[in-house]
Amino acid sequence: MTDFADRVEQVSISGIREVFEAAGEDAINLGLGQPDFPTPTHARRGAIEAIEAGRADAYTSNKGTEQLREAISSKYDRDYGLEIDPADVIATSGGSEALHLALEAHVNPGEEVIFPDPGFVSYDALTRIADGTPKPVGLREDLTLDPAAVEDAITEDTAAFVVNSPANPTGAVQSEADMREFARIADERDVLCISDEVYEHIVFEGEHHSPLKFAETDNVVVVSACSKTYSMTGWRLGWVVASNRRIERMLRVHQYGQACASAPAQYAAEAALTGPQEPVAEMVETFEERRDLVLDGLTDAGLEVPTPEGAFYAMPKVPDGWCDEVLERGVVVVPGDAFGANGAGYARLSYATGTEELKEALEIIDDATRTVR
Ligand SMILES: Cc1ncc(COP(=O)(O)O)c(C=O)c1O
Repeated sequence: MTDFADRVEQVSISGIREVFEAAGEDAINLGLGQPDFPTPTHARRGAIEAIEAGRADAYTSNKGTEQLREAISSKYDRDYGLEIDPADVIATSGGSEALHLALEAHVNPGEEVIFPDPGFVSYDALTRIADGTPKPVGLREDLTLDPAAVEDAITEDTAAFVVNSPANPTGAVQSEADMREFARIADERDVLCISDEVYEHIVFEGEHHSPLKFAETDNVVVVSACSKTYSMTGWRLGWVVASNRRIERMLRVHQYGQACASAPAQYAAEAALTGPQEPVAEMVETFEERRDLVLDGLTDAGLEVPTPEGAFYAMPKVPDGWCDEVLERGVVVVPGDAFGANGAGYARLSYATGTEELKEALEIIDDATRTVR
């Protein structure tokens, strides 16, 4: 009988789903990984107009439409002064597919992939699906990833390391100095740096820096998406940016696994990237206000929480039994160990939830914390 592939048998469905299933219908959900804002009108219109004009019916070029890749290229110039050839971009089905392409194209069986722990759940799973060996590394006290820890973890078998800033699940933002170090490590140790920048625009203090800007070799691959910036998670539109030789290898995986990203989503993304950016600024302002509210609430409840400087997550240290107590009282949070062994003793709270609900949830959290202590 045909058995299942070992690499798939090693992967299980994310622990986050289990928490959602355990929650009651009226629960306040602080477990969500997507903005609670509508997709900007001009992005929706971009897709609607393309559909109505019959422009979205057919396959696009495998890499994505020329116009979308030009829009992505212009975005890098506008945001970071980086010159990206539109030929060195592949439009993907979300940041998720972009991560998959980067790992599939660069990891040989058994080779190691270093990533933050706690970190986004896909790094471990996609490494295994690429037949690689996951090498999680712990974080600093402030929940940022220490370049020195990454460098120490590199062996002869290391294929890549993943940097994610702003980060899920911590909300931590890496400094410019750290990003320069990651670029140096990628250059000097000759290992690939996969920089997951899907939260690049959701930064409250300072700004996002990409290691792509600092690397002297082509050892940095950037993954990003419209998903979080434009609240377009359902559209499934992301991209990967890299040197031409890397793009051509990733294209082999993309061409046979996906053919091209969804055409209507490509038109929506082009409109999102080239149209007014005010909706992004407004969303980020709201997230910052909520971040402050959540920080105050958690601190008042007596919890220790590093100040998240981006994304829309906070990750407090929590006492034993805290997540269950909070969940029983109708607030969904995700236990930190869903994001790796080093996440034990923490919980992830998403504040992509309305302010009134957040206030209510923080009162419940305050009560629950007293009970557990
Ligand atoms: C750090 C990180 N990278 C990538 C993704 C995947 O994003 P997408 O919805 O664009 O596939 C997510 C989604 O939650 C994420 O948090």
